[in-house]
Amino acid sequence: MRLPGAVAALLASAMLAKCSILPRQAHNTGYQLQTGPLDTPWTADVGTNPWPEHPRPKVQREQWKNLNGVWRWRNVTAGQVDNPPKGETLERAVLVPSCPESALSGIMEKGHLYSWYQTTFDIPADWPKENRVLLNFGAVDYEATVYVNGQKVGFHRGGYFEFTFDVTDYLGSNNGSRSNELLVHVFDPTDTDRYQIPIGKQTLTRGGMIWYTPCTGIWQTTWLESVPNEYITKLDLAAGADGNVNVTVHSSGNSSSPYEIIVHELGSTEAFATASGESNKPFVFEIDSPDLWTPNSPTLYNITVILGSDSISSYTGFRTISRGVIDGVQRPLLNGEFEFFWSPLDQGFWPDGIYTPPSVEAMRHDLEQLKEVGFNAVRKHIKVEPALYYKAADELGFLIIQDMPSLRPDLPDPNNGCGSIRLEGPEAQQEFDRQLGLMVEQLKSYTSIFAWTIYNEEWGQATDEAQPWPEFRLTNLVRSLDPTRLVNAVSGWTDHTAGDFDDNHHYSTPQCGSPFWSVQGSGPSGYNSAYDPSRIGLQGEFGGVGQQLPSEHAWFSDLSKQTAYELANTTEMWNYRSIQNIVQLREQIERFACSGGVWTQTTDVEGEVNGLLSYDRRINRMDKELWSSTIQSLYDAAAKRGNSSVAVEGRNIGLGGMQNVFP
Ligand SMILES: *[C@@H]1O[C@H](CO)[C@@H](O)[C@H](O)[C@H]1NC(C)=O
Ligand SMILES: *[C@@H]1O[C@H](CO)[C@@H](O)[C@H](O)[C@H]1NC(C)=O
Ligand SMILES: *[C@@H]1O[C@H](CO)[C@@H](O)[C@H](O)[C@H]1NC(C)=O
Ligand SMILES: *[C@@H]1O[C@H](CO)[C@@H](O)[C@H](O)[C@H]1NC(C)=O
Ligand SMILES: *[C@@H]1O[C@H](CO)[C@@H](O)[C@H](O)[C@H]1NC(C)=O
Ligand SMILES: *[C@@H]1O[C@H](CO)[C@@H](O)[C@H](O)[C@H]1NC(C)=O
Ligand SMILES: *[C@@H]1O[C@H](CO)[C@@H](O)[C@H](O)[C@H]1NC(C)=O
Repeated sequence: MRLPGAVAALLASAMLAKCSILPRQAHNTGYQLQTGPLDTPWTADVGTNPWPEHPRPKVQREQWKNLNGVWRWRNVTAGQVDNPPKGETLERAVLVPSCPESALSGIMEKGHLYSWYQTTFDIPADWPKENRVLLNFGAVDYEATVYVNGQKVGFHRGGYFEFTFDVTDYLGSNNGSRSNELLVHVFDPTDTDRYQIPIGKQTLTRGGMIWYTPCTGIWQTTWLESVPNEYITKLDLAAGADGNVNVTVHSSGNSSSPYEIIVHELGSTEAFATASGESNKPFVFEIDSPDLWTPNSPTLYNITVILGSDSISSYTGFRTISRGVIDGVQRPLLNGEFEFFWSPLDQGFWPDGIYTPPSVEAMRHDLEQLKEVGFNAVRKHIKVEPALYYKAADELGFLIIQDMPSLRPDLPDPNNGCGSIRLEGPEAQQEFDRQLGLMVEQLKSYTSIFAWTIYNEEWGQATDEAQPWPEFRLTNLVRSLDPTRLVNAVSGWTDHTAGDFDDNHHYSTPQCGSPFWSVQGSGPSGYNSAYDPSRIGLQGEFGGVGQQLPSEHAWFSDLSKQTAYELANTTEMWNYRSIQNIVQLREQIERFACSGGVWTQTTDVEGEVNGLLSYDRRINRMDKELWSSTIQSLYDAAAKRGNSSVAVEGRNIGLGGMQNVFP
């Protein structure tokens, strides 16, 4: 989403005036939930035992221990990373996991680039003494340096990714007391100075309504597990509609160790199928006629993998994603049939937790509200969620377009006071590429994900002059890591024709797979055509109809800071204008080559008041009957265009001709 410059500048100055409104409180020694600008129905129930669920449903063991809860915290300056404050008691209390910028953290302050986290832990007495102990982090934004008992055990860079250290050799005597001290040094510059790192919508420096409070530090579950000497480190699983399971069981040993994989019958622990493979290489086996996974029928099979004395539980759904030509039009196919996908732009921000949803229930609630009116997809917008989000999408039946968290859109041009540059130096590009690989590796076994987005609206995308354009190379990278899904190389301009989609963004009205478009962005207008018959036509963003709310439901009580592309002054008008836009999309499905739409957006976020739900999730603006019937009419219109009997599967298909597209 982007704003005209003048509006952005006005909003920027409004935002600057606002930056100091968050109430501060005296440094507390005990944890205390803060009163933020807005809470949610779940805030007060979080308590001091947040996120108690096992955090990694794809590789789950029985012997694990959650380290979430109240930890100690200290804001520091640069240069402390090699001097852990071992044995000191850090001044502040912080709730882990949470963003220190959030009310739930108990801190609710911005502007700490460097900090220390501290806790102590013991090892449960019933864990086998001969086992290894792994320390797992769901996500720490942005760099984490980890010490156990004063000794450095490792370093991790990248704010959205899980990481694990074997801490066995750093543990104190395992005698049942809280004998081990854990210290984590965090550095997170967000978008200060000239840093260009994956941050999505977080900002410390930008004004304007589309940038939000940043998140620093440990924002997902931190936990321990007990594993035998040789253990399963990762499970890559792709299960197709033909019943083929392509699995790679990664193990800590480097050799090929035999394992057994059991796919369980539905609703039972009995084996539906059993196969034996060797670790650290792909292995394909076939299941006889599994029930397929679709958004309407999201069937999942439980799985057990046994390698030596290690045993993990996991799950998968059987489905195949591909691309094909139907009646001359490029279409996304699910299990060989055209599946029109209808999705909100879903940002995953929370007024009480910022990046950390207050609970699993709260996180599922958003998806349930979408399911209720018939959304079958979600565009997970430039954020990677906790693993339990993807599990919820697998269970509830959503197709996910997963965006890579973007770099900041641009930097001031040092050679031109008024100019800007999109990307500075090769290091930022190399790190973006590396983290794109981390995202695909981390999420590629979730059934719900059907497409990867590399760039959003050319944010951090090398300029037109920088040939070869990076999105071609990165599309190939993503396909090599995961050949089973589609790639949306650039969502919104500037499009040089890489990837599987031609994705147009336009507000409020759609321009989907159509011969008309508004010329935006910096490239020659041909780059921004809303319709390229050689790829799938997608409306990657539209809508954005808003409605201002009274202060008890709004992040900003000042109405001038509650903004949207277009504002309706009653809920009835909001529904009328929204549905009008969606009916236009339906006409474009009927007439043109439109294969999917993304409505902005699931919830209000800070100054944006264009959600289906308010930011506090207490208001659902949708007239549910009207939305359900209109959404159903999108699927009906697509079904009339989608005759699967002439589908051709596979990626390298001849161009669909223009003449076939316009009836
Ligand atoms: C953290 O410390 C830095 C440097 O002393 C200071 O500028 C900043 O305001 C502090 N931030 C918080 C949240 O305490
Ligand atoms: C347990 O180990 C810690 C750290 O080594 C030690 O301080 C403590 O005295 C031990 N407790 C018992 C009951 O042995
Ligand atoms: C199985 O997956 C691996 C890793 O993604 C891939 O290299 C291999 O080609 C796949 N095998 C089949 C038969 O699809
Ligand atoms: C695996 O290989 C690495 C690098 O060669 C080596 O450091 C490590 O000890 C090996 N691990 C096992 C279990 O053999
Ligand atoms: C998978 O296992 C979980 C945990 O035991 C159970 O709750 C769920 O019902 C199982 N699913 C199926 C489809 O059997
Ligand atoms: C909405 O705006 C119209 C036109 O300004 C005005 O007549 C009407 O009273 C407004 N309605 C509400 C509920 O504010
Ligand atoms: C699908 O295409 C076949 C072959 O062209 C045709 O016989 C059939 O009527 C079509 N079905 C629909 C629903 O359009």
